[in-house]
Amino acid sequence: MALREILTEPNRVLRQKSLPVEKVDEDLRKLIDDMLETMYAAPGIGLAAIQVGIPKRVIVLDIAQKEGQKNPMCFVNPEISEKSKNNSTYEEGCLSVPGQFAEIDRPDQCYVKYLDYNGEPKEIKATGMLATCIQHEMDHLEGILFIDYLSKLKKTMIIKKLSKQKKAIERIVV
Ligand code: NI
Repeated sequence: MALREILTEPNRVLRQKSLPVEKVDEDLRKLIDDMLETMYAAPGIGLAAIQVGIPKRVIVLDIAQKEGQKNPMCFVNPEISEKSKNNSTYEEGCLSVPGQFAEIDRPDQCYVKYLDYNGEPKEIKATGMLATCIQHEMDHLEGILFIDYLSKLKKTMIIKKLSKQKKAIERIVV
């Protein structure tokens, strides 16, 4: 397993649409293992492949970490088959938008079809925080970030801040 670099906004790669996985093979499982290791090290509770620069429809999640347990989940080619009409609101952050948080409304329930770690087709009903996390990660596969749901002004402010942070980091490295 290896840690991968997490791309941060602004970065055009994050805006790319990810492509379906054709086969769940050893190479893909290696990517999933790396993504989980990278997510745990960050630390974060979710990561999409595009965040480490790979435009494949793969996401990993672990929302059990808060209770000190580990429950790694991975979803290959996830598709939402049904969403509830009721919304829930969570304060969201993102490893690709470091240090920024905002309240986002999303459907509070969804059914998700996907392939698991072994390439087996599965379906789950996600509710609460899991539903929000899956939808946040699936947005990454379309090149969408949570800041896209904010007002133009707020979004511009956040991107400006992140650009400044990036420049500051580069200055130290140089
Ligand atoms: Ni994210």
